[in-house]
Amino acid sequence: MKIRKAVFPVAGMGTRFLPATKAIPKEMLPVVDKPLIQYTVEEARAAGIEEIIFVTSRGKTPMEDHFDRSPDLEEKLRCRGQIELLHQIESLVAEDTWSVFSVRQNDPLGLGHAVWCARDLVGDQPFAVMLPDDLIHPVTPDGQPVAPVMKQMVEQFERVQSPLMAVMEIPPDHTNRYGIINPSGPQDAEGLIPVTGMVEKPKPAMAPSHLAIIGRYILTPDIFPLLGKQRAGAGGEIQLTDAMAGLLKNHLLYGYRFRGVRYDCGTKSGYQMGNLALALEVPELRRYLLPFIRERLGYWEKMPPA
Ligand code: UTP
Repeated sequence: MKIRKAVFPVAGMGTRFLPATKAIPKEMLPVVDKPLIQYTVEEARAAGIEEIIFVTSRGKTPMEDHFDRSPDLEEKLRCRGQIELLHQIESLVAEDTWSVFSVRQNDPLGLGHAVWCARDLVGDQPFAVMLPDDLIHPVTPDGQPVAPVMKQMVEQFERVQSPLMAVMEIPPDHTNRYGIINPSGPQDAEGLIPVTGMVEKPKPAMAPSHLAIIGRYILTPDIFPLLGKQRAGAGGEIQLTDAMAGLLKNHLLYGYRFRGVRYDCGTKSGYQMGNLALALEVPELRRYLLPFIRERLGYWEKMPPA
C-alpha cells in the first residue's frame, strides 16, 4: 500500500526556546535560510506524500501561511525582477499534486494524543508521522548524499508492509531522553531490526538497548483505537510509543537504522549544530564561517573547560 499522508504533530509549545518562541512557532525558526518545518515538508514530498496534516494549536498559523500564496510578496518580487526568489516562494504553495490540512489539538496531552487528533483526516490507510524538530540531513557523516529519510522508510514499508520507526544508536547514558526499542533479532541488510517492545525514557540500567526512536514513523490506522483508549504514561503525557507497543499484537514491528545525520532541533545545542553544519555546506557562507570558527576555537581552547 502506498503512503500518501503524513501527520506533523506541531502543537507543542516549544518552551525550551523561550523567549524566541513566545510569538512564533518553534517550527518557524530558521536553519540557514529555511524554517525547520520546510525541511520536513520537503522530505515528505520527496517521499511521494500527497497530504500533509498539521496537528496545531494556538499561535501556529504562520506555519500554514508559509505554505499558502502571498500575493503582495509575489507581486513585489515579480516587479523587481527577482525571479529566482519568486519561483522559490511559489514552489512552497500546495497545488494539484499535494495539499496541506490542519486540525487542532485543543489540549497539549502529548505526542500520542496529537497523532490521535489526526484520525479523521488520515482515515483507513497506513500513514507517516514526522516530527520537524528532528532535522535529518540526507547525507552520510562523511558527506555522501543519501535519499531523504522518509523516502528510505517508504521503500522499507513497501517491502515488509509493517509499521516501522526510525532508530539510531545513542550514548548509553542518554536512554532517559528517548523511547528505546527492545530488539528481537539482528539488523537485516537493509537496516531493519525486528522489535518485541519499546520503553519510554528508561533509566540507563533498565534500557533494553541503546537504539532510540527518532521522529519518523510509518504506522497503520489500527493505532488510533489504541491511542483513544490510552492513559497518560511517562511524563504525564499520552505517549505514541505506548500505543505502538499495542500494535505488536497484530503486526511485526521494525526499527529502521536510517542513513542520514540527525540534528535534534528541539534543543538549543542540536539546533545550533544543525545551523552550523548546513551553513558550512553553502560555499559563500563557508568562506566566512571557517576562518571565524578557527579564530573562535583558538580563543576557547585557551580557556579552562566549562
Ligand atoms: P516536544 O515535547 O519535544 O515539543 O514534543 P514541545 O512541547 O514543543 O517542546 P518543549 O519541550 O516545550 O520545548 C515533540 C513533538 O510533539 C509535538 C511537538 O510539537 C513536537 O513536534 N507535540 C507534543 C504535540 O503536537 N502535542 C503535544 O501535546 C506534545
